[in-house]
Amino acid sequence: MEKSLIERKKIVLDFADKFYVFSEEIKPQIKPFVDYDEIQFSEIFKNENPVCVEIGIGNGEFITHYAELNKEENFLGFEVVKKILKKAINRVERKGLENVRLIHFDAKFFVNLFPNNSVKRFYINFPDPWPKKKHHKRRLLKPEFLNLISEKLLVDGELFIATDHVGYKEEIVANLITSGKFKSVFGCWYVNELVNYYPTKYYRKFASKTGVYFFHLKNEK
Ligand SMILES: C[S@@+](CC[C@H](N)C(=O)[O-])C[C@H]1O[C@@H](n2cnc3c(N)ncnc32)[C@H](O)[C@@H]1O
Repeated sequence: MEKSLIERKKIVLDFADKFYVFSEEIKPQIKPFVDYDEIQFSEIFKNENPVCVEIGIGNGEFITHYAELNKEENFLGFEVVKKILKKAINRVERKGLENVRLIHFDAKFFVNLFPNNSVKRFYINFPDPWPKKKHHKRRLLKPEFLNLISEKLLVDGELFIATDHVGYKEEIVANLITSGKFKSVFGCWYVNELVNYYPTKYYRKFASKTGVYFFHLKNEK
């Protein structure tokens, strides 16, 4: 369909009385052959503070830890499993954090809606590895998604990735090379320990036994 004929639509994220939005509120707004307007972070957070994004927040330990330490930054978290997201919601409530917003939806869709040059940091801790070969295509960190993240990051923005899966680690390295948009802050692509990096639930329960590959990348666009 010709681009000019496609309707533009604004996805309404209702954060008026709460800090989270469930997919039930978003799905009815999604239509085929529609171009969506950019999301404005200042509307979501009601301030102009820098924005950090975590994809796959799990129980929310990581995002709440950093949101508590950095009150002058905003934290936007995505999680696709509602039952897990509810744990994160409870944690944000218990800590009384006002700089966190959570969205129950596939981040792959929403990152497209971010304005370019708008995010200070992306965190992706233990993305689903899809270990079976026939499922590798479902992995999140493909060159196209890395390029999209780079586009949305500020010029000096950063991307953190942690994985315990050797095969996925190798694919991430290959995809970072294909993308060409990031450089590592280390002399190599990844390290096995990252000092002061919050150990997520997944890290403590599974990954710490098998070994972990941490990527700390700077945007190179
Ligand atoms: C292996 S778990 C890791 C959870 C947490 N980051 C940790 O380290 O404990 C991966 C999480 O990412 C979520 N997830 C996977 N793909 C996602 C996507 N495209 N958007 C949002 N969440 C996603 C999954 O539902 C799951 O909770």
